[in-house]
Amino acid sequence: MVKHINHIVLSLILFTFMYLSSSASVTYDVVSLGAKADGQTDSTQFFLSAWTSACGSASPATIYVPQGRFLVKSAHFNGGHCKNNAITVRIDGTLVAPSDYNIIGKDGNWLIFEAVNGVSVLGGTLDGQGTSLWSCKRSGKSCPSGATSLEFSNSKNVVISGLTSLNSQMFHIVINSCQNVKVQGVKVSASSDSPNTDGIHVEQSSGVTIMSSTIKTGDDCISIGPGATNLWIENIACGPGHGISIGSLGKDLQEPGVQNVTVKTVTFTGTQNGVRIKSWGRPSRGFVKGALFQHCVMVNVQNPIVIDQNYCPGEEHCPDQASGVKISDVTYQDIHGTSATEVAVKFDCSSKNPCSGIVLEDVKLTYQDKAAESSCANADGSASGFVIPSSCL
Ligand SMILES: *[C@@H]1O[C@H](CO)[C@@H](O)[C@H](O)[C@H]1NC(C)=O
Repeated sequence: MVKHINHIVLSLILFTFMYLSSSASVTYDVVSLGAKADGQTDSTQFFLSAWTSACGSASPATIYVPQGRFLVKSAHFNGGHCKNNAITVRIDGTLVAPSDYNIIGKDGNWLIFEAVNGVSVLGGTLDGQGTSLWSCKRSGKSCPSGATSLEFSNSKNVVISGLTSLNSQMFHIVINSCQNVKVQGVKVSASSDSPNTDGIHVEQSSGVTIMSSTIKTGDDCISIGPGATNLWIENIACGPGHGISIGSLGKDLQEPGVQNVTVKTVTFTGTQNGVRIKSWGRPSRGFVKGALFQHCVMVNVQNPIVIDQNYCPGEEHCPDQASGVKISDVTYQDIHGTSATEVAVKFDCSSKNPCSGIVLEDVKLTYQDKAAESSCANADGSASGFVIPSSCL
């Protein structure tokens, strides 16, 4: 009998030991650390201390945000000295920005991850509370430029999945100088008259995929800046918004090019543009080389297919100058639906660097139940399959 009990005790001790030594993952719950789910108490420091612990742990770590609303001010999650390359931020609740836009509006960023490797943000909602800043901007008063809600900068092996971003002050999500980033199942929502609220902005980054996301906003659904390469965008619902845009490019003379961009299976609903490439009308060494726009549906879109190389807001800093940005090898394949204006296909390319290798294949865009029109300037390429409006290439 005694021998039997000893045996059980020994097994228990052994089991506990094995369990502890093999517990691969450690969890930091922000509420256990002191955060309050009341939407009013500043919880920034508890998010930062969860980060510091996760980052200092050599084994995989989870930062857990339970249900409820957590007030968080500007927070910089720096991975420069992390021991960890597997940190999951699992969010069941909502992070809320301060309602007074002056508190974070001059910081540029609300939540920024910098120099991290292997961070996944799963689920949750970010509420940027941008509406009062948008009103300020629309009134013409002087206001802070606003903060991007979530940015990854100088980072690699990043996942953003199942996140909802509401009413950001400025851009919702920015991927800047990153490698290997997967964005999937994201929802972006802001009103159609909210200024500068791009849904997802990618620049100076390689190997970014954006999949299965719904974006309703006041500016570009997705904007692609200088230095974006090997970018894959698929299965997106865009609108309201300004469409999916490569650009603005060519603002600076020295600028990395955009290369190998795929945009497929996108529905644009009531947007200002569908698929757009846009560059400043001024000298630059920037370029676009290799873009495929495939299987897109346009529902009442003002400019379904557009290249605009004469962008010059306020006609300042580019008087009578041609864009230096060279655009080549751009294919539009299986693009159909309705245009809200007569000109559904517009290629307005640079007189100094004409567009080349533009391909239209199986395009059908109508305006008020009739064939729409197309317009070309300095554009060279070819058309095949059925193409309506008839190609001007
Ligand atoms: C283009 O980018 C895709 C990812 O979006 C990648 O799989 C492919 O290999 C790239 N092509 C070239 C030629 O680099």
